[in-house]
Amino acid sequence: MDTRSTHDALLSPTAAEINLAHLRHNARALTARAGDADVMGVVKADAYGHGAVRVARALREEGVRHFAVATAAEAVRLRRAGIDEAILVFSAPLPAQLPVYARHALDVTVSSREVAEAVIATARAAGPLRVHVKVDTGMGRLGLSPSETPAVVRMLERAPGVTVAGLWTHFATIGDAFVNEQAARFEAVVRRLGGALPVHTANSGALLSPPEHFSLTGTELVRMGVALYGIYGPSAMLSEDLRPVMRLRTRVTHLKTVAPGTTISYDRTWTAPRRTRIATVGAGYADGYPRRLSNRAEVGLHGRRFPVVGTVCMDMFMVDLGPPDGPAATVDLGDPVVLFGAGGPSAFEVARWAQTITYEICTGVAARVPRIYHDETPLPSQNA
Ligand SMILES: Cc1ncc(COP(=O)(O)O)c(C=O)c1O
Repeated sequence: MDTRSTHDALLSPTAAEINLAHLRHNARALTARAGDADVMGVVKADAYGHGAVRVARALREEGVRHFAVATAAEAVRLRRAGIDEAILVFSAPLPAQLPVYARHALDVTVSSREVAEAVIATARAAGPLRVHVKVDTGMGRLGLSPSETPAVVRMLERAPGVTVAGLWTHFATIGDAFVNEQAARFEAVVRRLGGALPVHTANSGALLSPPEHFSLTGTELVRMGVALYGIYGPSAMLSEDLRPVMRLRTRVTHLKTVAPGTTISYDRTWTAPRRTRIATVGAGYADGYPRRLSNRAEVGLHGRRFPVVGTVCMDMFMVDLGPPDGPAATVDLGDPVVLFGAGGPSAFEVARWAQTITYEICTGVAARVPRIYHDETPLPSQNA
């Protein structure tokens, strides 16, 4: 743990514990699954909340040589931290941003004819650019149409200072017939271009799909995000032995016993049905613990589950520990409370209670929550 995170962890009741040993384990498992294709570590949104610089360094030690982020700003941050491997920026660049790509040797997503023209002009004025041309085969978000792609690729290939390093597309679904439809549209473009360009299509869902829904044949790279962090589809996690990398915990900051009929938190949405012990804990929606979890979620404390009661506030929420002489009688101030991860509910359960997906739960962990990194050694027990 570095000095800043030690300091922050002391002063903040809430921390995201990042198990880099689990990240490394997942990277090895997914690299094996990818076969001849290389893994591109998707570290956008601060590596899905896990900390992009630390994650990229750990992945690099596991042999990962390609990274991807969402914005040029995220890529420049990695460059400044000494990540000098290939970095693809997924979003569509604005022409004014392209000199920054040239200066930091960032790979550009060419998603339209206009971007291609801006790339050609920038390569002439500001230095060489490498591009990955994106084809929209059905996601409906970014990319050239299949019919216009070959001409744009040819135009880029002829331009001085431009290297076409990849051709890619992104799936809108997982493991259904539409994936096959998108793959067929992409294949047709690849064939029209003579099959010479490196291609990539797979994300975690595609890589972990059964073979009838995805084939890696001809794929150079797999763009690996959520599975690296061990929060992709519980059944895939089991079959691939993927391990969750993040555990979110806070601490008990206040304890009291209340009489039956006492109401708890804003808008009085919960009333004590009996005399009961209530813990106030030090995390709230400003830490990324969604307000939607009010009266729906459970937390882990002393190895047991307890319900969240009342409305989740900005910086705190309340937990019903049950009868004062019950199993939680020994709960004390400062005790760790697991919001998700070992010793508490999984990120999948929290996502279900919050009616969202694990991606949103992890990327939603706020910047004010210190990240505490553990490598090789197991995480401390939940009482640590
Ligand atoms: C274009 C693109 N490729 C790959 C990924 C990684 O997806 P996943 O986290 O599902 O592996 C993302 C993430 O949203 C993406 O936007």
